[in-house]
Amino acid sequence: MLLLNKIDSIQKDFKAELSSAIKDSSKLNDLYNKYLGRKGLVSELFSELSKVDTTDKPAIGEKINLLRNNLQKSFDKTGSKKHKSKINSKIDLTLPGNYFPEGNIHPITKVINDISDIFKSIGFSIFSGDEVEDDFYNFEALNMPKHHPARDMQDTYYLNNDKLLRTHTSASQVHFMEENNPPIKIISPGRVYRNEDISVRSYCLFHQIEGLYVDKKVSFSDLKGVMEFFSKKYFGQDVKVRFRPSYFPFTEPSAEMDIYWGLNSESDYRITKGTGWLEILGCGMVDPEVFKSVKYDSSFTGYAFGIGIERIAMLKYGITDIRLLYEGDIRFLRQF
Ligand code: DAH
Repeated sequence: MLLLNKIDSIQKDFKAELSSAIKDSSKLNDLYNKYLGRKGLVSELFSELSKVDTTDKPAIGEKINLLRNNLQKSFDKTGSKKHKSKINSKIDLTLPGNYFPEGNIHPITKVINDISDIFKSIGFSIFSGDEVEDDFYNFEALNMPKHHPARDMQDTYYLNNDKLLRTHTSASQVHFMEENNPPIKIISPGRVYRNEDISVRSYCLFHQIEGLYVDKKVSFSDLKGVMEFFSKKYFGQDVKVRFRPSYFPFTEPSAEMDIYWGLNSESDYRITKGTGWLEILGCGMVDPEVFKSVKYDSSFTGYAFGIGIERIAMLKYGITDIRLLYEGDIRFLRQF
């Protein structure tokens, strides 16, 4: 085999040439370039290797490597610093690599993204509202005039007489309707604030996804259909849901939707209060009073819904203390 012969003869020639070059540093340099240089004989052998039959490649490749190592060793022995092995002994290839910590998505963001994707897939677009709101958008326009008892359900952080931290994403509905005419099909995810006692179950801030659909002839069964579609997509085809009558000032009729979580463990009993059912959202048909406050005519109907994100995140990821979601502890966050 031609290449093998060539390897042998290069080895022999090198030996002969080395002994005459060893005492002359410029000759040694030429010798190095001739054999181990970038365009030297060894590198030529490597390019020829690419043309060799695949079955012979490993054996011949090994021979060329051996030749290169032998030649390099001979140069190392001459004591010439310039031609010392480039494979520096200072690099220890057995050391473990450097660790570059990777960031990951916060569980709240993940739930918001996953749910948003489901609604986007059926034509909803995303609208973001502001966290600082006027009393009008957060309450008045949603059929909660001053002194309305429903305001008590949402302990509010007031910034001054009129400005407040929004207590629910429903405020975004009003902004969007003020600026757009039907048909409307939006979801509005975001952070909301309530002055609640901080515990494993509640915090002074949390997240919601608001939904709003307004058009002609929108019915309660459209709402039910979309809520069921969302539940199946997010919790799985076999999920069981139920609607319970409820009350919200801005929807009429109003309902809450529960999913069946099951009663398989002690913690299932605890989180479902022994019923197996878990409330995950409020919804209903937009109250005509709300349409009045954004000056829509009475030929429109619509539905709205508000999904609580924390509860879903806690269920989905088995988080037992809501406060962990806001503390930014890297040991907690790395688990997702
Ligand atoms: N805004 C309500 C809350 O914070 C949730 C809600 C209920 C939103 C019914 C809606 C709705 O859009 O139709 O508790």
